[in-house]
Amino acid sequence: MLAARRLRSIVVSGLVLTVGCTQDGDVTPKTDQILSNNAELQAPSNLPLREIMRGLEADLAAVAHGIWIADHEAVRTAANRIAEHPKVIPEQVAAIQAALGGEFPAFVQQDLAVHGAAMDLIEAVDASRTTSELFDIFLRAQQGCMSCHSSYRARVAEALTDTGSATETP
Ligand code: HEC
Repeated sequence: MLAARRLRSIVVSGLVLTVGCTQDGDVTPKTDQILSNNAELQAPSNLPLREIMRGLEADLAAVAHGIWIADHEAVRTAANRIAEHPKVIPEQVAAIQAALGGEFPAFVQQDLAVHGAAMDLIEAVDASRTTSELFDIFLRAQQGCMSCHSSYRARVAEALTDTGSATETP
C-alpha cells in the first residue's frame, strides 16, 4: 500500500518532486483527499523551491509540536502537508536537472525519502502508535531533510540563482 503510493508519487510527478497540493492546513482529511486527487486543478500549485522549503520547515516544526503535546491529529495534518507539498515550478526543475545531470534521480530520491517518512507518520497515527514511535519516524523525516541539504543544497541553490524567483532575500 505504502509502496504503491510512493510509486504513484513517482509516476504522477514525472520526477517533479512528488504530487502537488495546497498548503492549507485546516482542511479535514476528506477534503484534503479531494484536493490531493485534483492536484492538477489547483492553481497555482507550483512554487519556487525555496518557498516549498519554508513550508516544509513550518510543517516539520508543527509535527514536532504535535508530538510534544501528544496531539496526534495535529501530527497527522502537518505530516500530510509535508507528504503533499507543492511541486517545484518547471523552470527550476529544468535548472536543477541541468545542474545535477545524472545525480538528478538521487536528488528526487531524497525528496521521496522525506515523503515516505511523512506517509509513515500518517499511517502510524492511523494505527494509534505511541508518541515515542511517532518521534522515531519524525527523526527519520528530519534526517531526510538534512541528508538532501548535505548532498545538494549548495549546488542547487547556486543553480537556482538564475531562475529569478529563488534570489529573493528572506
Ligand atoms: C530533495 C532535497 C531536499 C530535501 C528532501 C529537503 N530540502 Fe530543504 N532545501 C533544499 C535546497 C536545494 C534548498 C536551497 C533552495 C534555494 O536556496 O533556492 C533548501 C532550502 C531549505 C530551507 C531554506 C529556505 C530559505 O528561505 O532559504 C529550509 C528552511 C529548508 N530547506 C527546510 C527543509 C526541511 C524542513 C526539509 C524536510 C522536511 C527539507 N528542507 C528537505 C533541498 C532539500
